[in-house]
Amino acid sequence: MTAQILDGKALAERLQQSMAEEVQHLCAKYGRPPGLAVIWVGDNPASAAYVGNKDRAGRRVGIDTSRSQHLGAETTQAELLDLIDALNADPAVDGILVQLPVPQHLDGDSLLNRIDPDKDVDGLHPANLGRLVRGEAGLRSCTPAGVMAILADAQIELAGKIAVVVGRSILVGKPMALLLLEKNATVITAHSRTRNLAEMTRQADVLVAAVGRPNLITGEMIRPGSVVIDVGMNRITNTEGKSRLVGDVDFESAQQVASAITPVPGGVGPMTVTMLLANTLQSYKVRVQSAR
Ligand SMILES: NC(=O)c1ccc[n+]([C@@H]2O[C@H](COP(=O)([O-])OP(=O)(O)OC[C@H]3O[C@@H](n4cnc5c(N)ncnc54)[C@H](OP(=O)(O)O)[C@@H]3O)[C@@H](O)[C@H]2O)c1
Repeated sequence: MTAQILDGKALAERLQQSMAEEVQHLCAKYGRPPGLAVIWVGDNPASAAYVGNKDRAGRRVGIDTSRSQHLGAETTQAELLDLIDALNADPAVDGILVQLPVPQHLDGDSLLNRIDPDKDVDGLHPANLGRLVRGEAGLRSCTPAGVMAILADAQIELAGKIAVVVGRSILVGKPMALLLLEKNATVITAHSRTRNLAEMTRQADVLVAAVGRPNLITGEMIRPGSVVIDVGMNRITNTEGKSRLVGDVDFESAQQVASAITPVPGGVGPMTVTMLLANTLQSYKVRVQSAR
């Protein structure tokens, strides 16, 4: 068996195209575009790439990103809290995100917690995570939401299926498990203390790997015919010094066993940014429609 490739890049392009059309229509109706402010502190090179992607994708769909700020590494916690307060109060801003990681002298959690939950387009504020736990509407974490969009687009039924999520971070694993549970999957969460990981993963109808260990999940750990979603993004360097991005799943062996699989790159990554834009649009719609 060779697995169907779940092409997150193509899906992201389609969704961004339809968002661009919707933004154009809504902007004409309500007189302003959605606004997204990304706060980036310091010069972490990985963050530079992520922030650049978000900004380009935002502008492509017609989102105003002009309130975004790149601040020096010496910026203080108090200055950042003031900035977040100003963005919370700014009627042209629908989404705020603090690019992580922040420099060590800053407290990332208290910055995230200062963001108005209704503008928390990363879905990481405790209020939004709490809404997810309670099954209430709210802004969902972008990467798990992107995974759900890939599964929905491929019409993969989740009710009654066994879903195994490897990883339990607050960024990916935990909200991922809750979103799968919301769709009535029976969810197992595995982590670094899980005994006999392969025994767990082999039960999965849907396997989500969000670990950060290159090629941890091999073909023999996968149940034949299962759906495999690889969230991992690991940069590895070969003996000639060339670097490339690989997932947590050994793609070559896994695609012989799975019925469907996301590639890395081109799988979950592009959907994360797309869900950030979708969250910004969702927040904007609530704001402009309630202002009428
Ligand atoms: N595609 C995207 O857009 C996107 C977005 C976010 C993250 N990522 C990628 O996704 C991966 C995970 O990110 P993260 O932020 O969730 O990482 P993280 O915070 O480091 O969490 C990793 C999780 O994996 C678990 N783990 C570590 N080693 C394990 C092992 N040998 N067996 C089973 N579980 C193990 C850890 O367990 P403990 O809790 O027990 O320590 C932890 O829960 C990374 O590669 C990251 O780059 C991709």
